[in-house]
Amino acid sequence: MIKLVSEVVDQYCERHTQAPEALFEELRQETLATMRSPQMQVGAVEGQFLRMLCGLVGARRVIELGMFTGYSALMMAAALPSDGELITCDIDPKAEAVAKRYFAKSPHGAKIKVRMGPALQTLASLQAPFDLAFIDADKTNYPAYFQAIVPLMRPGGLIVADNVLWSGAVADPGVTDEETQALRAYAAQALADPRVESVMLSVRDGMLLSRKK
Ligand SMILES: C[S@@+](CC[C@H](N)C(=O)[O-])C[C@H]1O[C@@H](n2cnc3c(N)ncnc32)[C@H](O)[C@@H]1O
Repeated sequence: MIKLVSEVVDQYCERHTQAPEALFEELRQETLATMRSPQMQVGAVEGQFLRMLCGLVGARRVIELGMFTGYSALMMAAALPSDGELITCDIDPKAEAVAKRYFAKSPHGAKIKVRMGPALQTLASLQAPFDLAFIDADKTNYPAYFQAIVPLMRPGGLIVADNVLWSGAVADPGVTDEETQALRAYAAQALADPRVESVMLSVRDGMLLSRKK
């Protein structure tokens, strides 16, 4: 992932963001040392932002697509009340093993329910309402994830899609690979959909926030 802001600015943002608990740094280090593509992890700034968004919408039920080693799931779970629920899914058993160890170590881990299997299957099995959805799984399915998630959200609920700038590729008409096209389609679809209002932010690799009306 190419950073959209300079390393210096990125570090400045991180220094001026609430530092997460030590467990998150432990998880970050283990992910860096043991996983392929560790940069998939959202990191401290986006993680804290997700946690704040959960707090702002008063989230009690959250759905996440793309758990990986559990960093974003744990961040959001930390903002939920003790009887809150975060359902997260993935297809990678190696990531699942790491995530579950960290969920077990955290006071918030008991709020997290892991569903292994393709995200579209998990979505088809869920009952509304959700307060917040975080889409961070395979990019080609983003448009289908949006269609499956909108009916599950309560009015005022927030759909957050990650990596919508794809290192800036989406804004370069010369880039036409499948993932970039899917991310462009996602953004266009969200903007045109009368059921939501959307704002795109250049946080990290781009976040698209769509609030259900
Ligand atoms: C960008 S990473 C998620 C990072 C995570 N949110 C974090 O902050 O640590 C994307 C994850 O989506 C998973 N994934 C890919 N295709 C999937 C699918 N069809 N259904 C569910 N998960 C999928 C991958 O195995 C990978 O762990």
